[in-house]
Amino acid sequence: MNTYATLPIEISHGEGSYLYDINDKKYIDFTSGIGVNSLGYNNALWKEAITSQLNSFQHLSNIFSNGSTIALAKKLTELSGMSKAFFANSGAEANECAIKLARKYSFNKYGQGRGTILSLKQSFHGRTLATLTATGQDKFHNYFFPFPEGFDYVIANSISDLKEKLTSDVCAIMMEAIQGEGGVHPLDKDFVLEACKLAKDNDVLVIFDEVQCGIARTGNLFGYNSFNITPDIVTCAKGLGAGLPIGAVLCNENLSTTLVPGDHGSTFGGNPVVCAGGLSVLNQLCNTDSYNEIIYKGEYIKQSILNENIKIVKDVRGLGLMLGIEIYGYSSIIQNKALEKGLLVLTAGKNVIRLLPPLNITMEDVKTGVDTLVSVLS
Ligand SMILES: Cc1ncc(COP(=O)(O)O)c(C=O)c1O
Repeated sequence: MNTYATLPIEISHGEGSYLYDINDKKYIDFTSGIGVNSLGYNNALWKEAITSQLNSFQHLSNIFSNGSTIALAKKLTELSGMSKAFFANSGAEANECAIKLARKYSFNKYGQGRGTILSLKQSFHGRTLATLTATGQDKFHNYFFPFPEGFDYVIANSISDLKEKLTSDVCAIMMEAIQGEGGVHPLDKDFVLEACKLAKDNDVLVIFDEVQCGIARTGNLFGYNSFNITPDIVTCAKGLGAGLPIGAVLCNENLSTTLVPGDHGSTFGGNPVVCAGGLSVLNQLCNTDSYNEIIYKGEYIKQSILNENIKIVKDVRGLGLMLGIEIYGYSSIIQNKALEKGLLVLTAGKNVIRLLPPLNITMEDVKTGVDTLVSVLS
């Protein structure tokens, strides 16, 4: 269907942080499939992990347990300090599960009438009907009526608005540590701390949507780690799969028995091949050395652009290798000019260029990409 505005190139293959088109033109990739290909292309350890699982079995129904899915759940819960994991196939699906989990927790404790999910304005949570409704941007709330009920929106970083919206029907508040699609906006720490306190005082669950900023992207396991808080529910997807489809929902001990057999499920969720790849991602990227490198490279990119004092650059923000460059002018023009010069970048709205390079990109490749970007912006 006519759902995507595609760029005018056709890719033939990738290697490391580079993609090659069918005419053998080489591009440095600062997009990684919108934050998905966290290990770049042709990563040997990841390929070995998934092919080794393929050689045993490719799929079992979730009525059988299997070592690969359990190993990923174990590693994710160990790294995060959360209690349990549920696996889905995408970010939207993970968020659907988080919404169901929060509503059932509240129903079990308080009965009906306490199912409202608060999310933030400018957020993005997915394309299914519930997650589209949770997405706090009016432009997405069109055409597909009727939308499900039980959602309300808080102005990001406004405690007074949160207090107003935190009525007795609310069961959870959902947020992204860095709003990705909404323009690469990190939340204020003070807001997050106060929101978590208010939520705790009212037995309202805190859900962090880490689909775009999670799994080492910001130089930590999750974006919320920079606030030193612990959510009740965390969702992740994209970079966890490194190119194979996955979504994951993590919950704390308090919620670990809320969903029971028959409440939720997924045919493909927890696919053993995908989970074997996910474990390889965590093993390669989720450690202190890798986090430090991601932070260092992100800062290098940020400072290199700021140091040039480029006229059209208004702001450079973000954390680790999730960066947004707000410009005076259209980001799509820069995106196309960069592409001509062999650099792939993303946009996040009309005026923001978004960079999500592979997380194992070499410093040499970072420098090459930044030089090209600076020359295009200049
Ligand atoms: C923060 C966030 N949540 C959810 C989603 C939806 O994920 P998916 O496209 O895998 O359904 C996205 C996708 O961009 C996202 O950035």
